[in-house]
Amino acid sequence: MANFNIVGRKKITSKYKWTKKVVFRVAVFCWICLIVFQYFGPTLLVDILKTDRTEPVLARSNVFKFVEHLNIGPKIANICDGRNFLVYTCNEACGGWGDRQKGIVSSFLLALMSNRSFVIDLHVPCDISGFLNPNTYDWTECLQYVKNVHRNNTETIIIGKRASSIEALEETDFLQAWNKTVIFLEISSFELIMKMLRSNPYTENQISWLKEFTNPEVLHLVLKFLFMPKSKMLSHFNNFSEEFIQGRQLVCGHLRVGQNPSNPFDDDLTGTNNKYVLVNNIFPFLKQFKDSAKYVVYLATDSDEVRKNATSVIPNYINLNRTIVHVDKYSYVNKSEACEGLYTALFEQYILTKCDYLVLTRSNFGVNAAYIRGHSRGLYILHRTKIHPATLSYIQTVYKFQ
Ligand SMILES: *[C@@H]1O[C@H](CO)[C@@H](O)[C@H](O)[C@H]1NC(C)=O
Ligand SMILES: *[C@@H]1O[C@H](CO)[C@@H](O)[C@H](O)[C@H]1NC(C)=O
Ligand SMILES: *[C@@H]1O[C@H](CO)[C@@H](O)[C@H](O)[C@H]1NC(C)=O
Ligand SMILES: *[C@@H]1O[C@H](CO)[C@@H](O)[C@H](O)[C@H]1NC(C)=O
Ligand SMILES: *[C@@H]1O[C@H](CO)[C@@H](O)[C@H](O)[C@H]1NC(C)=O
Ligand SMILES: *[C@@H]1O[C@H](CO)[C@@H](O)[C@H](O)[C@H]1NC(C)=O
Ligand SMILES: *[C@@H]1O[C@H](CO)[C@@H](O)[C@H](O)[C@H]1NC(C)=O
Repeated sequence: MANFNIVGRKKITSKYKWTKKVVFRVAVFCWICLIVFQYFGPTLLVDILKTDRTEPVLARSNVFKFVEHLNIGPKIANICDGRNFLVYTCNEACGGWGDRQKGIVSSFLLALMSNRSFVIDLHVPCDISGFLNPNTYDWTECLQYVKNVHRNNTETIIIGKRASSIEALEETDFLQAWNKTVIFLEISSFELIMKMLRSNPYTENQISWLKEFTNPEVLHLVLKFLFMPKSKMLSHFNNFSEEFIQGRQLVCGHLRVGQNPSNPFDDDLTGTNNKYVLVNNIFPFLKQFKDSAKYVVYLATDSDEVRKNATSVIPNYINLNRTIVHVDKYSYVNKSEACEGLYTALFEQYILTKCDYLVLTRSNFGVNAAYIRGHSRGLYILHRTKIHPATLSYIQTVYKFQ
């Protein structure tokens, strides 16, 4: 008799009364849970089931715990002679900045797998070391040296994004397989490389710490380990903060449109990142932050049309109106403009890592910003035509990058 009749309560003994009270409370509790779940279930599920156990790890001050395993860097020996190298190489068509970051992280891990000093050769459209400094590990030191190694002792390896070709490396002992002094590696895959490394039997010997971290954490750790913005960018961000943010909460979106008049040679992304879908879903979402005493809105985008429309729809929107150049598809502009475009991309991503709220569309550039930002508070992703609250690991389950 699950009928909690208040009239009948007086008739029962105090022991039963007590039991009934408990049952009643449990029932009410479950009933409330059910209602809450019906309304907020999908959201709660994301938050409860997929909460990154990793946030405390990322927040730890000593994030570079793998430094002690890293006895291969030129920084320790300070000489290039007699060492083996793995060089992340980007000569042409190595993808946008997001792809490049992912390729750099994968290359770094493969350098550890093959016990090689790691070097970055990224000068397209211009030298990356003009904008970013090495942080804990100096990836510039032997760049000139590796370029002068005789061809006989070098090998260029291209790892594409085909799942089957990366899976084929699952048994590879990179210490044995890569036997030239210098390996120039062209790669932009990350998730497939992580999958391969996680099942590669040699990983445990070379980078045993890998199993302690999720993919978003690995990307976060390695990028922080390798890079820090140059003082110009930091000063630029301080100015941006003083001029525009002024102590308010920063609400951001990344609207990656793909080919459009501001970005004419990019891939056509109308299938996944249709600009009308982006604008029609993200702008209304951003309107809940229209209180300009509390919030300020920044949009990173590759489309002037999106910026222009945001200006007329979102009252507290900041338009920096900087040069848009896809760093891999820039042949239509001169070199100085292309470099300006690369700087814009780096600066915009740096801003995204500082946002209190961040709405993503499917793009490595924005997703990497979320990983570098390192937590899932105020994080949302657009999937088809819906904006979902997200955690760092949930992003990949939806966007399925290779
Ligand atoms: C890795 O390289 C270091 C320094 O060159 C060397 O001392 C060490 O024995 C190497 N480890 C392996 C497994 O080859
Ligand atoms: C490079 O390899 C070729 C062919 O094996 C050989 O003839 C040449 O002497 C080598 N050069 C050097 C610098 O080792
Ligand atoms: C170097 O590796 C290649 C292929 O991975 C192999 O064919 C070759 O025999 C190796 N050379 C040496 C000297 O181990
Ligand atoms: C930041 O503002 C200061 C003072 O106005 C100025 O001197 C400096 O050049 C600005 N930095 C950048 C990167 O714009
Ligand atoms: C931007 O605004 C113009 C004028 O209102 C409109 O024609 C256009 O469709 C809008 N673009 C997007 C992507 O919503
Ligand atoms: C943004 O820049 C473009 C091109 O440099 C210019 O035509 C446009 O007027 C600028 N818009 C704003 C709002 O400053
Ligand atoms: C490059 O293009 C920009 C904008 O179109 C122009 O202002 C600049 O003078 C050009 N620089 C060179 C070196 O041609």
